[in-house]
Formats: sequence, structure tokens, C-alpha cells
Amino acid sequence: MIPHLISTRDLSREQAIALLDISADMAESGARENKKLPALRGKTIVNLFYEDSTRTRISFEVAEKRLSADVINFSAKGSSVAKGESFKDTIVTLREMGVDGVVIRHPSSGAPHLLAERDWIDVPVINAGDGTHEHPTQALLDAYTLRAKRWGDSARSKGLDGLRVVIVGDILHSRVARSNIWLLHTLGATVTVVAPPTLLPPGLSEWPVSVSYDLDAVLAQPCDAVMMLRVQSERMRAAYFPNAHEYSAGWGLTLERFHRLSPDVMILHPGPMNRGFEISSAAADATQSLVLDQVANGVFVRMAVLYSVLTGTEVMS
Ligand code: CP
Repeated sequence: MIPHLISTRDLSREQAIALLDISADMAESGARENKKLPALRGKTIVNLFYEDSTRTRISFEVAEKRLSADVINFSAKGSSVAKGESFKDTIVTLREMGVDGVVIRHPSSGAPHLLAERDWIDVPVINAGDGTHEHPTQALLDAYTLRAKRWGDSARSKGLDGLRVVIVGDILHSRVARSNIWLLHTLGATVTVVAPPTLLPPGLSEWPVSVSYDLDAVLAQPCDAVMMLRVQSERMRAAYFPNAHEYSAGWGLTLERFHRLSPDVMILHPGPMNRGFEISSAAADATQSLVLDQVANGVFVRMAVLYSVLTGTEVMS
């Protein structure tokens, strides 16, 4: 059994598809007048956020409440972390209060892994984004969104075989890109990453992707989906491109590039979006944009992950 969700690399194709299918079940329950399910009644889950978040934190909270769990929201800002309390002391303090599961976002890559490995607390850990490492529930909700859009009512039990996905932008700092690359590959999609050379990580030859610096050349070829990434200025300690205008001209989904895209191409962005920088408003708000579907589907996918990990359902074994 896999008792935690730390990385999409840990998921087999069968496990990933099973999670997407459970997400579809959760979406069906979300369409009912009474959206609540009793699955996690009596369980207490802490959302431990050492980094800012809107979508992930709130959708985990909605997902937990839909599953009838009791929810504790912890933000490092405003807690005793601000007085210097260590990560370990924070965790053992929560442990003594009787927590049954931890959802963690942390600026340090590896923090959720550390939590799962150490004996500070013995409960399921779900990674809600760690540094530049992974954001597995974001990748699962992206895969769910692509699958649902492409195959509609016949999506169940399918992967993403043959889907051509282009991921554009700040690959270097993007945990979303890393989780997506592994999961898309596991599900049978082909992935091309496009970025300025300065925003590509070393060791890309080990990843299951094609690499390009030329967005116009890539978009001139057939593709099914374009995933734009946020430029993560808060993680940049150097100048990775001359200025915002140059970045946008080379690697942004500008109005002009958007108009050249086929209307069948699905547009994704994990949010928050820097409108006018990596993506134009015309593209973000277009009919073919799935940005709001991603947000809505995030609740169902996180319900599926919480349910599977906290109840030890077969999918994770
Ligand atoms: N996509 C995502 O992780 O957004 P938040 O930072 O708002 O959670």
C-alpha cells in the first residue's frame, strides 16, 4: 500500500487511472443537491500551509468538508512558526492534538517526503506543493480535465494515450511541470517543454520530454493542449530573461499567438495567472481555455486523493 501522495512518479498507470475514475465519481456526487459524503466522518485533517495559496488550500478544505472530515487550517504566517518554532515541533504539536492526515505545502523541496519518512507523526501525508519539486494533485486535476474534455462521458478507465501536450514557460522553478511531465508520460501522452534556455533545469535528457526554445515553431505543429506556466518571480535569484516584454514576446501566449492556435487546442494554466505576461486575457478567457474547469475539477480530484489515501482504498495498494 502507498499510504501517502508525495509525487506523481510514485503512481502506476493503473493507480492514476483509478484516481481519475474516483474523481469522476466525486464529480457525480458534487452534482447532487446534498453534496456531502460520509467517507471521512470522524477524521481530522490539517491543511499545513507554509506558503501562500488560494486554489489548493481552499479546494482541499472544500474537498475535506464534502467528505465530512473535521478540518484545521494552519498557515505558518500568524502561527508560532513566526516566533521561530521548528518544523518538527510544529508537527509533534499537531500530532498530540489527534490529527488523522496532513496536507502540506512548503517552500522546501522534500518537506512532505521528510514528514512521511520521520516518526514525528504516523498519518497519511499529501503533498500540496513542495518548493520546485512536485505538486501531484495539480497534475492529477490537469489530467482529469484533459481526459474529461477529450473523451467526455466515455472518459472512464482511459489514460491520455496519444495526447500531445506542450508545456510552456518557467520549467526550472515549476513543481506543476515536474508532476505533470511524469503523470502525462505515465498516462500515455507525449510532452514537449518550451522555455528560454535559462528557465530549463539541468538533466532534462533524463525526462520523458522533447525540448524546444522556439514556441512559434512548436505551435506550428499539431498539438492537443498548451499548458502555460506562471513565471515564478518569487523563486528567482537572478535575471533569467531581459524583461517582461521580451519574455512575453518569446514565450507568452500573446493575443497574436492565440489567434494562430486552432480552436480545438485546449489551453491550461494552473493559476495564479500573470495576465499580459505569460498569457493574454484573450487566451485565458477563451472558450477553449480550461482554466476554470481546472479549478472546479480540483475539488473532485482532491476528494478522490483524500478518500483513497485516508481510507486505504485499493487504488493506492
Ligand atoms: N495552482 C496552484 O497551486 O494555485 P495556488 O498557489 O493558488 O494554490
